[in-house]
Amino acid sequence: MRYPEYRPRRMRRTENLRRMIRETRLSVDDLIYPIFVIEGENIKNPVPSMPGVFQLSVDKLVEELKEISNLGIPAVIFFGIPAEKDERGSEAYAQSGIVQRAVKVAKETCPDLVVITDVCLCEYTSHGHCGILKGREVDNDATLEILSRVAISHARAGADIVAPSDMMDGRVGVIRKALDENGFTHTAIMAYSAKYCSSFYGPFREAADSAPQFGDRRSYQMDPPNALEALREVQLDIEEGADIVMVKPALAYLDVIRLVRENFDYPVAAYNVSGEYSMIKAASQKGWLDERRVVMEVLTSIKRAGADLILTYFAKDVARWLKEGKV
Ligand code: PBG
Repeated sequence: MRYPEYRPRRMRRTENLRRMIRETRLSVDDLIYPIFVIEGENIKNPVPSMPGVFQLSVDKLVEELKEISNLGIPAVIFFGIPAEKDERGSEAYAQSGIVQRAVKVAKETCPDLVVITDVCLCEYTSHGHCGILKGREVDNDATLEILSRVAISHARAGADIVAPSDMMDGRVGVIRKALDENGFTHTAIMAYSAKYCSSFYGPFREAADSAPQFGDRRSYQMDPPNALEALREVQLDIEEGADIVMVKPALAYLDVIRLVRENFDYPVAAYNVSGEYSMIKAASQKGWLDERRVVMEVLTSIKRAGADLILTYFAKDVARWLKEGKV
């Protein structure tokens, strides 16, 4: 049928008509909230490039986690900022390390909250790279053993899901094997599978103090122009034992999210990264954008593209708006 018999505007006339044929709905169930944990006590440091985001000390987590839980958000992901960094990132797998303690507190405070941990070395190495170095190169295979130690230490602390974000080849398989051998067959893996070398991570590196001290991450993170390569990365991670696969960042990579969705029947997560958050915050503060509407539009689009789960610094705001029915 064509115009004038068919008029698409008929079904857009009122809010209730629009509600009835809405294809995509963002739900609080889709959200994962990232948290930066820092050594020390009574610390709540604002991150200048990410208004509304803080580095929290472990004692400050209790209140925060209760709020998140009360908002109905099902999961958090922890990033740690250690007191000491070294060449090998050894604080990353210390049993009393920052993330390990945060996980314990989370499990004591809100046992039902799903606790995810970021498994990477960049916050823990003195050089800021995601693996250990051989000369000026990141040594893939030597890094794998350290990553599996990190994952086991997180699982031992009580993490429900570990999320390797380092982009070393073979890490999902090595971590799965190590978890299983240590009795953590129930610990799931959310793999940062298609993680691009993106400039949108800038504000995160301020929040997590994880900028590389020389060079960049182009030899291990994916080249932004590639989409088919993302399918190979996802395929490898699934074969190696990933339970959830991720595309990151989200907004400039909606096509990749869709491609992954159409090619695999695994849960797909998308990371609405720091730079995507900061752009909206900055424009809203200037009065150039309506924050709530833009955030809902962006996150709904990420879901429409095919993501089942969205990691976002807006999670608490969205949970509140959904509760208030203001969307
Ligand atoms: C650690 C890691 C990064 C992010 C998540 N895990 C930074 C990076 O790869 O440099 C970025 C998240 C964000 O920008 O919000 N490797």
